[in-house]
Amino acid sequence: MIDSFGRNITYMRISVTDLCNLRCLYCMPESGIEKRPHRDIISVEEIGAIARAAAKCGIKKIRLTGGEPLVRRGIIDICRLISATDGIEELCITTNGILLPKYAEQLRDAGVMRINFSLDTLDPDRYRQISRIGSLSDALAGLDAAIEMGFSPIKINAVLIGGVNDDEIGRFAELTRDRDIHVRYIELMPMGDSADWSSEHYLPGTAVLDALPALEPAGVEGVAQRYRLPGYKGTVGIITPVSSHFCGQCNRIRVTADGKLKTCLHSAPETNLRGLSEEELEDTLRAAILAKPWTHSLDGGAFSETARNMNEIGG
Ligand code: GTP
Ligand code: 5AD
Ligand code: SF4
Repeated sequence: MIDSFGRNITYMRISVTDLCNLRCLYCMPESGIEKRPHRDIISVEEIGAIARAAAKCGIKKIRLTGGEPLVRRGIIDICRLISATDGIEELCITTNGILLPKYAEQLRDAGVMRINFSLDTLDPDRYRQISRIGSLSDALAGLDAAIEMGFSPIKINAVLIGGVNDDEIGRFAELTRDRDIHVRYIELMPMGDSADWSSEHYLPGTAVLDALPALEPAGVEGVAQRYRLPGYKGTVGIITPVSSHFCGQCNRIRVTADGKLKTCLHSAPETNLRGLSEEELEDTLRAAILAKPWTHSLDGGAFSETARNMNEIGG
């Protein structure tokens, strides 16, 4: 469906849980978050109904996010339901990979077509420091499991954090030498737990180009500007929500784990999607898409207007 600024909205991201098996510094408080009663989180059936209504409004691609989507009970049922929905052509998932050795095969069989990984460092001590409780070897075992199951292309999202992982840009780029892997650096967005971090941690995406002067432009892909090192198989991308937003091409809407529709990652307004018939769901989605804002508040150095942490929205 076309929104009021002429953008074709074809992509819905659904956060299936706000829980996570990691506690990344910029995303989750160290103590974790309080587990909500089951009834507060959208059920498998509700997700199915939202997907059907969304497909009627022109959504063709659904990406499951979290928190960590693989800690959600019923995740395989959710994938089966969505991939069987008429009109949904692509089902993807964004994960930290820790549980993929267990789930990669079931996900593939349930219709998941692509997996994106959140992986901010290739150094074991640093991984523990950033994720507070995770182990790099588990995450890499997940990456291997996905490759073994034939998921392709694989994308790795690394949040660029000044003074923390900006010395690893070259090391990440080496992952793209022989494999069809797409590493994408994301500018740290000032929201939730990272909102009050000092400015040295916020780097513009151009830091990646400064670190790798041999990069050659390789087009735009989704929200990323792509580059390639000469002769390398994969690409290195930059996602710049802060320094140069891509709202003019935005094609997406989001559903939070508690069933609220967000038409922009950073805007405050939300629309309830719970307790509605499928007809009402469709009407609500259409109205919300028409009211999707033009851009977000990060422009000009302001903070995100959303009161939520990323674990509830799913990136
Ligand atoms: P593809 O289907 O592979 O194109 O995935 P994707 O890039 O849409 O999804 P992914 O979950 O890998 O998103 C990459 C990161 O970009 C997210 O983790 C967010 O942090 C950021 N991002 C994605 N969409 C938006 C958006 O609409 N606005 C902003 N500001 N950031 C976004
Ligand atoms: N800024 C940028 N990216 C973030 N993510 C979580 N919080 C932030 C933030 N403040 C990313 C994660 C993951 C995705 C779901 O969102 O690293 O790739
Ligand atoms: Fe979990 Fe992703 Fe948040 Fe890290 S960034 S705590 S992996 S939801």
